[in-house]
Amino acid sequence: MKVQVPDHIRTLVPYPPGKPLEELEREYGISGSIKLASNENSWGPSPKAVAAISRALAGLHRYPDGSCYYLNQALADRLGMQPEQIVFGNGSNEVIGFLVTAFLRPGEEVITSHPSFLMYQKFVQIQGGVNRVVPLKNMRHDLEQILVEISKKTRLIFLDNPNNPTGSIIDPAEFDAFLEQVPEQVIVVLDEAYVDFVSPEQRIDVISYINSARQVVSLRTFSKAYGLSGLRLGFGIMAAELADYLHRVRQPFNVNSLAQIGGLAALADEEHYQNTLNQTREQRERLMAEVTELGCKPIASHTNFFLIDVGGNGKALYENMLTKGVIVRPMQAYGYPDYIRITIGIPEENERFVTVLAAARQELGYE
Ligand SMILES: Cc1ncc(COP(=O)(O)O)c(C=O)c1O
Repeated sequence: MKVQVPDHIRTLVPYPPGKPLEELEREYGISGSIKLASNENSWGPSPKAVAAISRALAGLHRYPDGSCYYLNQALADRLGMQPEQIVFGNGSNEVIGFLVTAFLRPGEEVITSHPSFLMYQKFVQIQGGVNRVVPLKNMRHDLEQILVEISKKTRLIFLDNPNNPTGSIIDPAEFDAFLEQVPEQVIVVLDEAYVDFVSPEQRIDVISYINSARQVVSLRTFSKAYGLSGLRLGFGIMAAELADYLHRVRQPFNVNSLAQIGGLAALADEEHYQNTLNQTREQRERLMAEVTELGCKPIASHTNFFLIDVGGNGKALYENMLTKGVIVRPMQAYGYPDYIRITIGIPEENERFVTVLAAARQELGYE
C-alpha cells in the first residue's frame, strides 16, 4: 500500500472487546449461552429508561440537543455541581479521548497503571503521546511509584477507581496525600465507572476536590449501575475551565437523543439503581463462596466483577468454557495468565457459570 501510516498508528493494537454472544453461538452452533465478560448490568436496563426511549423514537428525524440541556441540569442538581462542570460523551470512553486530545501534545507524557482500563494508553498512542506505565502493586495502584514517574512532561494521570480488572480501590486518605504531591499542572483523572458499587464511606470525595479548585476530573458512566451500555452515555465532572476546553474538541452532537432521554429517565429510577447494587452485592458474596469451594481463589472486589485464580491457564479455561456456552474474560493480556475475570450475573447465570467452571477445570485437570 502506498499510503504512509504514522508509526504510532501502525503499531496500535485494537481494543479487544468481550466476545459477543451472537458470534459465539454462530461459531459453535449453540444457543442459550451467557456472557459474563464485559461488566455490564446483568439485571438489564432501567425499565423507565426503556419506556422513555420508546416514546422518543418518533423524533429520530431531529438532531439531538448538542448541549444535553435537561440531562445536564438533572445531573448537576443531583451532584450539587454547576451544569458548566459536566461534559457528556458517547460513553465515558469518549471523554477519555477528549481529555487526551485537549491536554496532550505529541511527545508529552501520561501515567497509567498496568493492568488498568486499556483505553487510556490507546488514546495516548493515537495522540502521539508517551505512555509511562506503572505496574499495580499487590493488585492496587502504586501511588508512590506514580509520583516518582511524574516529570516536566507529564500532563495527565489516569487512575481507575475501582480498578479494572482487579476491583481494588484507592484509600481516600492515601489519595489525599498523593494529590498533595502532584504538581498543579498535572490533571489527575479518577475514572469512577464502577464507583456506584463502592460503599459510600470508602469513596473518594472527588466533588470536594473539584470544588476546591484541585486539578481533578471524575469520569462516570451510565453503562454499569444504570444498565445502559448499549446507549453509550458517560460524563466527566471537572472545573468549568477544563470543561470549556473539552467542549471545543467534541463533535456538536456527540451524544445521541435516545441516550439523553434514556439517561435522564434512568437517573430518576432509584428502584432499578438500588436493586442493581443490592443484588450485585448479594450475588458477589454467593459466587465468591462457591468458586472458593471449587478450589479457586477469588479476589475481593468493590465492583460488579471479580478476578479468579483458577489454578491453571486462564486462556485454556476460557476456551473450554466457550464451547459450553459461557463467555468470561481471560486475563493473560492483562498480565494474569492464571486468572479469569467474571461479571456478576443474575442467579441462573451464576449457577450455570459455576457448573461450567467446575466441569472445565476437571476436564483440564486443574487443582
Ligand atoms: C474502568 C473503565 N472505565 C471506562 C469504561 C468505559 O465505559 P463506557 O461504557 O462509559 O465507555 C469501562 C468499561 O468497561 C471501564 O471498565
